Amino acid sequence: MHQGRTTLSKFLIQQLKGAPEQSDLAALLVDIAAAVKAISAMTAKGELGGVLGSLDSINVQGETQKKLDLMSNQAFINTFSTGGLVAGLASEENDDPVEIDPRDGGGRFLALFDPLDGSSNIDVNVSVGSIFSVLRAPEGRAPVITDYLRPGKNQLAAGYAIYGPSTMFVLTVGKGTHGFTLDREVGNFILTHPLLQIPEDTSEFAINASNERFWEPPVQRYVAECKNGSTDVRQRDFNMRWIASMVADIHRILMRGGVFMYPRDTKDPSKEGRLRLMYEANPMSFVVEQAGGIGSTGRRRILDIEPEQIHQRVPVIIGSRNEVERLERYHRDYDSGIDEKYSSPLFQERSLFAS
Ligand code: F6P
Repeated sequence: MHQGRTTLSKFLIQQLKGAPEQSDLAALLVDIAAAVKAISAMTAKGELGGVLGSLDSINVQGETQKKLDLMSNQAFINTFSTGGLVAGLASEENDDPVEIDPRDGGGRFLALFDPLDGSSNIDVNVSVGSIFSVLRAPEGRAPVITDYLRPGKNQLAAGYAIYGPSTMFVLTVGKGTHGFTLDREVGNFILTHPLLQIPEDTSEFAINASNERFWEPPVQRYVAECKNGSTDVRQRDFNMRWIASMVADIHRILMRGGVFMYPRDTKDPSKEGRLRLMYEANPMSFVVEQAGGIGSTGRRRILDIEPEQIHQRVPVIIGSRNEVERLERYHRDYDSGIDEKYSSPLFQERSLFAS
């Protein structure tokens, strides 16, 4: 029975053999998978487990915390606090990074995570997920905030778990993106989706269209053209999906292509974007790039951004290569005034003066 199935541990031992850092990374990813299994079991119980509903607390992001947010956060913290692999952790749910007591940790890695992404979906029984990112810890001293503030291209590993009809664990260590499905009876993650490849072209886009009036013109242009479908420049009809859970939307894109956008908007001018660079945009961009896609703000590659703050937010446009490149081109057209209808106000003013 089950002969020839590649478990997550077997896969990681094979992919990460060699230097001690590699085998420690494999051990850390197995630990993360253990936390994910615990969260999967909690989410699956739903109302029967008494885990639904909100708490009175508000997190550092200004969002009301759900019970499962905190339980998932604790599952990750417990995992990272023992085992000697992690020197410090940063969670979307905690104000500041937490140093792991060197007697318990003192490890080689820093772990950053969003313990339960898309948590507005918990109470309505729609897919949610966890996202993680692993950076190298400094050697010979305790981590300080600047050790966390590294561009996403420095990530050693990243991935997510999706708690849907099945639980899947998707990860990259920079050698392609691979998906594992939880065999609940046996308790193992089994390699089911090796070397995922996102199709370069797509006819599916994901965006919260209720924000349309707040978007910048290049995004309005892109979405308008998709909606016009075969009657306009795209010459084909598009489909729109929005699950309001980044993990679930990105997972769909990894499975069949598409573009996900939470672009810059003017809804709250104090925020550059909605999604967090360190816990959402960076890990998902690493996963997507390793599957042949692109992660962009519309103006630059997400993985190149030099972070300034641990809870920093950025615009996110991510997915199928040709669609993200088109959106980047629309941003360039807008910024340089090439596109008359959608050019920036600065250029419209100039052309007014010129006439
Ligand atoms: O944490 C952010 C998040 O929940 C993402 O998972 C999701 O894509 C987005 O917010 C949903 O935003 P909105 O509430 O605007 O649909």
